[in-house]
Amino acid sequence: MKDHVVVTLVPPGDAIERLHDEAELWVWGGEGAVPRSVLLNEIPTASGLYCTLTEQIDEELLDAAPHLRVVSTMSVGADHIDRSACRDRGIAVGHTPDVLTETTADTAFALLLAAARRLSEGIDYVRDGEWQRWEPELLFGMDVHGTVIGIIGMGRIGQAVARRAKGFGMSIVYSGHRQIDAADELGARRVPLDTLLGSSDHVVVATPLTPQTHHLIDAGALAKMKPTATLVNISRGPTVDHTALAEALDAGWIAAAGLDVTEPEPIPPDHPLVTMPNCTIIPHLGSSTLRTRIAMADLAAENLIAGLRGKTLPAPLALS
Ligand code: GLV
Repeated sequence: MKDHVVVTLVPPGDAIERLHDEAELWVWGGEGAVPRSVLLNEIPTASGLYCTLTEQIDEELLDAAPHLRVVSTMSVGADHIDRSACRDRGIAVGHTPDVLTETTADTAFALLLAAARRLSEGIDYVRDGEWQRWEPELLFGMDVHGTVIGIIGMGRIGQAVARRAKGFGMSIVYSGHRQIDAADELGARRVPLDTLLGSSDHVVVATPLTPQTHHLIDAGALAKMKPTATLVNISRGPTVDHTALAEALDAGWIAAAGLDVTEPEPIPPDHPLVTMPNCTIIPHLGSSTLRTRIAMADLAAENLIAGLRGKTLPAPLALS
């Protein structure tokens, strides 16, 4: 008999065909993320779960899933997964690192350039019919080339941002627990977080969300940044305290922000940050190109199939 697998999204490409060959699938095809009650209803007979970052994989869900052997998330971030609960139950967990690194770093740079150079304000200016003539002092932004970039979290994506920064002639500082050889080779310097905040023209948050990084960028951190600085967040919304960020942008503690991720997601359209001209927000598009999303879907399928077969996952998540 084939295993039963719950799939909470229709992945791009043909990953679903490969899963069909391997297991009996239940696939959520409804609007938005699968409702929790529906997931709890489907999970009791499942041996595998193919999901993404919108599903909370916690004790309650796992307790309802006595046959579960593998969880495969189509995301690199895994803050939605209770790792120790999976480990205690002997459930393998896979995620999708590497395949999205460069695309996500492109998004970080797109946001940095858009926020620092006030692109969304310029676009609105044209759309609103305000553009009458070339003006010597219109919408001054901040230079990106030749400035100092501070990268919080020099993991795979942080390093890919650093490689781009090098091409822009930027000096690179980073913070994190470890010295990273690949960053050192780019001339990046590891500094304490406070030094990074105070000395960077642009700060990019690329660290995973953990209890330690929750609201890492709070009012105190924002107050240490330059009034001309840009903040970009491509990690998870809750690494930045949004109330403090709105205050900082309003009061001019920093100049601009670019957010790929928000707290909550989706961010309500009447949230103060959404209405601020110096805050550029996009709807969690970090890895969103067809090629990359297909690569993520395929890797997640390979993880799931390996887990069902009791094999080592191609991209296992460390559970300790
Ligand atoms: C996206 O945020 C991911 O974790 O893949």
